[in-house]
Amino acid sequence: MPSVFIKTFGCQANKSDSERILGDYSSRGYTETEIWREADEIVLNTCSVRQSAEDRVRGFILNLNKYLQETGKNKPKVILTGCMLHFNEKEIHELLPEVDEILPIAEVGFNQKSIRKDKDSAWVPISTGCNSFCTYCIVPFSRGRERSRPIDDIVKEVESLALDGYKNINLLGQNVNSFGLEKSGINLRKLYMDKDNFSAGTIPSNESQYTKPTTKPPFVLLLQTISKIPGIEKITFFTSNPWDFWNELIDEIAINPKIDRFIHLPVQSGSNHILKLMNRGYTRESYLSLVKRIKEKVPDAVFGTDIIVGFPGETDDDFLDTLDLVKKVGFKVAFVARYSPRPGTASFKLYPDDITAKVKKERWEILDKITNKDNLSNRPLIP
Ligand code: SAH
Ligand code: SF4
Ligand code: F3S
Repeated sequence: MPSVFIKTFGCQANKSDSERILGDYSSRGYTETEIWREADEIVLNTCSVRQSAEDRVRGFILNLNKYLQETGKNKPKVILTGCMLHFNEKEIHELLPEVDEILPIAEVGFNQKSIRKDKDSAWVPISTGCNSFCTYCIVPFSRGRERSRPIDDIVKEVESLALDGYKNINLLGQNVNSFGLEKSGINLRKLYMDKDNFSAGTIPSNESQYTKPTTKPPFVLLLQTISKIPGIEKITFFTSNPWDFWNELIDEIAINPKIDRFIHLPVQSGSNHILKLMNRGYTRESYLSLVKRIKEKVPDAVFGTDIIVGFPGETDDDFLDTLDLVKKVGFKVAFVARYSPRPGTASFKLYPDDITAKVKKERWEILDKITNKDNLSNRPLIP
């Protein structure tokens, strides 16, 4: 039987995709190997969120080349999938000539049966892609526009997981709150490529990319439906964004004991000036008031977050605002990243990467020190 080695870079979304890629390989008669040197095929499931993530993919290939040269072995087939598909095929072949085939994740699909290693807790995708316009972020380019999975398909998968003995379900999407509400979406590349007319003012607001629910938000309906499935004891979701954390969602968490009290709510910055440049669509005040509203209704709620330090133009005062917000909320876990300009994104085009590596590092260290290190496993959407 031919063998496959799957190397997963990046966040939980990729790890979940790899479970379905393995399911697909297995249905075609492949066995999985944990040793890349022995594999007939190597799948690289890549991440692009920061330059360092892409560099790791190159590093893997360099290692492979070195090994092949030393041993004289035949080159395994190399398949590239995941978020580096923001590059087109020609660019990928120039960058990584060793790649034999490109696999868009949409070809694997949501409903491909997964092979899961974790037998207690299951990751279930509810959407892919992203319709938001955070200026620094490559994800909408690499995963495309947001697409929600039909609710019946999700429910069927969770029912079958429950029958298999799974008690914990982690629902996965770049913005779970907007599940079922995405508009068909603006063509990102077209919008961003029009350099002459491109300015910060042409970037749509994140909120405008979704239909405002007039009745119960579909995500709340999904939570209610899944929590009634016999055997399911705990439901967690990643990630929620502050601009559409519905009151109905807060009410549901408050009355539904099966929903995890850990809420991951990326803030990215505590400075209004930087939040505006990031196009996040909320202010530090509205973020803090959301946290307060959640705590009022869900007194045992605990929060996690993501923060970017060294975004273009971030002054010491901006950073102090972030520190202040972090202390006010008292995050249980905060994932801090140093800004990495991603070619193609709005911030790359609009703002020079003007914070030195030294200052980024200093700010990163300060924030990293005051965040809890015991809970790293709580944060899945960060590579
Ligand atoms: N949709 C999710 C996460 C996507 S990426 C969300 O909105 O939370 C995960 C994290 O990577 C982001 O929250 C952000 O903190 C970080 N990130 C994204 N782009 C980045 C960049 N260009 N430089 C540094 N960190 C980045
Ligand atoms: Fe989407 Fe999250 Fe990236 Fe914003 S940070 S564009 S919400 S994936
Ligand atoms: Fe993609 Fe996740 Fe990285 S969505 S860019 S693998 S952080």
